[in-house]
Formats: sequence, C-alpha cells, structure tokens
Amino acid sequence: MSDLEINSLNSQISTVIVLAAGDGKRMKSSLPKVLHEIAGRTLLHHVLEATSDLNVENRVVVVGAGREKVEDHLNQLKDKNLVSGKISSVFQEQRKGTGNAVSIAMDAGNFSGNIMILAGDTPLITKQTLLDFYQDFLDNELDLSVLTVEISDPYGYGRIIRDGKGELLGIREELDASEREKSINEINTGIYCVGSVFLSQALSELRPQNAQGEYYLTDIISLVKSLGGTIGAYCSHDEDEFLGVNDQEQLSLVREIFHERKNQDLMADGVTIIDPTTTWIDSDSEIESGVEIWPGSFIHGKSLIKSGAIIGPRAVIKNSLIESGAKVRESEVNDSEVGENANVGPYSYLRAGTKLAANGKIGAYVETKNAQIGEGSKVPHLTYVGDAQIGKGTNIGAATIFVNYDGEEKHQTVVGDQVRIGSDTMLVAPVTVADGAYTAAGSVITEDVPAGAIGVARARQRNVLGWVFRKRAGSESAKAAKAAGGPES
Ligand code: UD1
Ligand code: CA
Repeated sequence: MSDLEINSLNSQISTVIVLAAGDGKRMKSSLPKVLHEIAGRTLLHHVLEATSDLNVENRVVVVGAGREKVEDHLNQLKDKNLVSGKISSVFQEQRKGTGNAVSIAMDAGNFSGNIMILAGDTPLITKQTLLDFYQDFLDNELDLSVLTVEISDPYGYGRIIRDGKGELLGIREELDASEREKSINEINTGIYCVGSVFLSQALSELRPQNAQGEYYLTDIISLVKSLGGTIGAYCSHDEDEFLGVNDQEQLSLVREIFHERKNQDLMADGVTIIDPTTTWIDSDSEIESGVEIWPGSFIHGKSLIKSGAIIGPRAVIKNSLIESGAKVRESEVNDSEVGENANVGPYSYLRAGTKLAANGKIGAYVETKNAQIGEGSKVPHLTYVGDAQIGKGTNIGAATIFVNYDGEEKHQTVVGDQVRIGSDTMLVAPVTVADGAYTAAGSVITEDVPAGAIGVARARQRNVLGWVFRKRAGSESAKAAKAAGGPES
C-alpha cells in the first residue's frame, strides 16, 4: 500500500491496545516476558513498531507482571524517540483474562472510534499485515474483525467457528472446544479491530463462564454479533507472523525467523552476505547496498555501514558508523566511527568515542577509547590509545601506551600531525607531542615534546663485557659467545 492509500483510509484507528500483563511463567526468567529482546529490540518494541504506520492517536499498553520494568522501558522508548506518538500504560492488578485487560484499558482512556487490539508477545507481526487487516475492516464496513490464520498444528489456540456458509460465529478456546472444534485449523491470532461503542458494550456483558474462569476477550465476537454488529474475519497466510513467545525455545525460534528476514531484506537490497546463518544484524542497523559481510559478524544497535565497506570475518559492531571502503575484520567496534577507506583489525577493540579518520589504520591487537585518530594516521600494532587526539599522517610505533590514568583520574594526550612515536613509548598524560616531532623507542614521555624535536627519555645503554663468561660460565650462552669470539672484558 502506498502512502497515499494509507492517508486515504477514510477513518483512522484511534487507539491500539497492547496486552502485556501476563507473567510469562514459562520463560523461567526474572525479566518480564515482553522485555526479552530479539534483534536489539524488546518484544514489546517490535509490536509497537509494527503499529507505527497505522497513524493511531493513542497506544495503551496493559501491564501487570513486572509493571515497573515495563513502564521504565516504555519511558525509555519515548525519551529516546524510538517510538512516536502518544503511549501510555494501564495496570491490570489481577490477571482475570484478556477481556478484563481490555476493559481496564478502555475504562482508563474513554476511547472512541476504531480500536485495534494486539498481544505484546507476537513480535513478528508486520506493518503490512496490520494495514491490510485494517483496510479489509474498512472495506467490509465491519464493526468487529478478527485476524486469523490457518496453521498445521492449532493446538492451544482459540479456534475460529464458522457456520455452514462460512460466516463467522465465534471463537472457542482449546480448553472449551469439542473434539470436532479442535480439528479446525483456522485460529485466532489475538489481533482484533473493533468499533469502540460495540467493544464497550460487549466487554460489559462478558462473563467468566468457561474452563479457565477468565473473562475471555474472544467472547466479544458473538456478543457484538448478538448486539447487531457486523462481524468478520480476515484470514492471513503467513503463520510465522503470529508466532507467540511463551518459552525460551519459542524466543529462539522467533529470533531465528527475524534474523532470516533481516538478511533476506538486506540481500534483496544488494548487500553481500557470505554466510547468512552466522551473520546477525539488529533491526535498527542500516547496511547500504554494496557492503560485503563475511561470516561470524554481528551488527548491533543503531549502526550504519556505508556502501563498499567490508565487514568481517568475525566483526562485532555496535552503534557505530563505518564509512564507505572501510574494512573491519576480526575486531570489535563500539560507539565509534571508522572513516572512509580506513582499516581496522585483525584483533582490535575500539571502545566508545573512537574516531578513526579516512585512510587511517588501527591494526592488530590495539585497544582504543575516546580517541580521535586523524586522516591517514596509523596505529598498526599492540597499542593502547586512551583519551587521545592524534593529528594527520602520524605513525604510532608498536607497543606504545597512552598512559591516561594516574590512579585517580583520566588525562588527555595530544599528538600532532606527521609525528613519529617510537616503538614502546609511554606517553604519560597529560602530555603533548607537537607537529612533526619524534619520540625515541622505549621512551617514557612525561614532558611535552616541541614541534620538530625528538623526545628521548630512557637510560643510556652500557655493555658489561664478559659478564656471561663470568656469571654463566659453562652455559650454552657462554659456549655460543665463546664460539663467536666475544670479548671477555
Ligand atoms: C489468546 C486467545 C486465543 C488466541 C491466542 C493467540 C483469549 C481468551 N484467547 O490465548 O484465542 O488464539 O491468544 O495467541 O483471549 N493478558 C493480559 N491480561 C490477562 C490475560 C492475558 O494482559 O489477564 C495478555 C498476555 O500477557 C498476552 C495476551 O494477553 O500478551 C494473551 O494472553 P494469553 O494468556 O497468552 O492467551 P492465550 O491463552 O495464548
Ligand atoms: Ca499466548
């Protein structure tokens, strides 16, 4: 559906109600069920995101178990602008059933217009399916519609009951169903669209007369019909979209499906993924066409990988920007930026605030943190760069340490343009090595080095002749030294 068509929907949904009060016992987790994550978002966030094209006025989440944590999460989503529009929560103190949960939401908000109801534990539902479902509700001028799907194993779900002509009659829960009803494969996905007047009236007539003694939301179908409303069902085709998460195994299954979807979408857009099974990319990460991703790579959070970058094998990238033509292999990059045609790895660890400019290099076994490394500058081997600002065209010799911590506080090191830091230099911060300066290998630099100078800060070497002949007489070293004709004194 195009944007134009969406805008032309003649009446918008006023309110989305998301049911999330269940305790999720089968997860066997201290975390409320809807706060478990797949692809960098909670289950609840995925469901809220799926409703984001519906142009709704209010979204209400019914919380119960783990109320504080779920509410904190909703506040965080709002604060970080990760969800748009009005979102509130209502508290269902006792779990008296899905019908009761919706009653509490309706009482709290006094909502009018069309209401859509979803469960917070079905994160694979797509925007498109919800739009199609709503369009069907409008096209058929229904007062209530339920989203259904045919599945091979309907066990545990509410079954869709129709009459001989195929007209919807109601929904029967597993525990209340006859053998004949249990053989029905069309099930209730738990997603409904209903006019608020019919909904409120039907909710007030719900009675907990069923095997579980709960107020079943599903009973509103027959109630709306008996109140004179027009009811219908919209049968969707992709059963994966309605998979609920009730235990850890289902969580991993849903995660796997999400993972496949994301990789398929990216490949369709021109991203090369050498081994999709071992490539995991979060919902919020953006990968441009022309990126190549090698096996064993993870791209998390709000990362952006620009065209022509090569990621992996075995790269972990989180909340980072990787510019075009850059390469990151066998390395971890967190909250950092890697410039155009820059090189990272193998085996390096870029921590928060690393900014490697274009054509720069962070080579093997290097750790960086809060470090700006200028254009074309190189940190090729075995180095720690913390709290540093490095200019352009500079080379940091192997095994250099930016000594940023005095045991109490962190301090800054400034290294200018075209500097050559000798191998095994300790740069004891705060300290500055100005443009074009050198440091001698093995120096402990505690004072600023002016432009064009070389800082030498190490003991002068002295050779004690014949020491091995005297102190290690008869050793293999002494024999080798003798054979070489080494001076005895
Ligand atoms: C429900 C439907 C069933 C449907 C299935 C789809 C009912 C009676 N049955 O069954 O027809 O096939 O979903 O997955 O509605 N919740 C609350 N408060 C409550 C009870 C539940 O907020 O008092 C929430 C749960 O957290 C969950 C959702 O409602 O997110 C569904 O509840 P659940 O108990 O999982 O219903 P099912 O038995 O799966
Ligand atoms: Ca369920």
